[in-house]
Amino acid sequence: MKYLVIGFMLALGLSSSSCYYDNAEDLYPELAVCVTDSMSYTEDILPILDFHCLSCHSTAANQGGVIMEGYAAVKSYVDNEAFLKSIQHQSGISPMPKNQDKLDDCTIKKVAAWIEQGALDN
Ligand code: HEC
Repeated sequence: MKYLVIGFMLALGLSSSSCYYDNAEDLYPELAVCVTDSMSYTEDILPILDFHCLSCHSTAANQGGVIMEGYAAVKSYVDNEAFLKSIQHQSGISPMPKNQDKLDDCTIKKVAAWIEQGALDN
């Protein structure tokens, strides 16, 4: 009986994995490769800001007097290193996003890579 159940589960597992294609990144996030080359402000950084920061740092919200809406505003926090240091939770700066979980490693790496690549408005 035990073997029947295991066999059944195996068959189920095999058939479901062979019948359709799934994005490996969605299925196994821990195995996914973090792509950080050719980072783009519009494609890579803006979505991060939109999702994690702008609720508090839009021009309207202006929390802590920090505005990160628009490239020029964001660039000023690149230049004084506060953007990266705050999301890396370095000492001497408020950890961001405030009162929320630290961003995942890949997201932080993407920001670091974009800055490394010149923090272009691309
Ligand atoms: C829930 C609101 C909230 C969110 C979300 C948030 N912040 Fe902040 N942020 C603040 C507040 C409030 C301050 C003022 C300092 C403090 O109170 O810790 C601040 C300060 C900062 C500062 C200045 C830190 C310093 O010590 O000089 C930076 C840079 C910053 N935030 C970046 C970000 C980034 C980048 C994100 C997104 C990853 C983010 N914040 C998300 C509320 C938020």
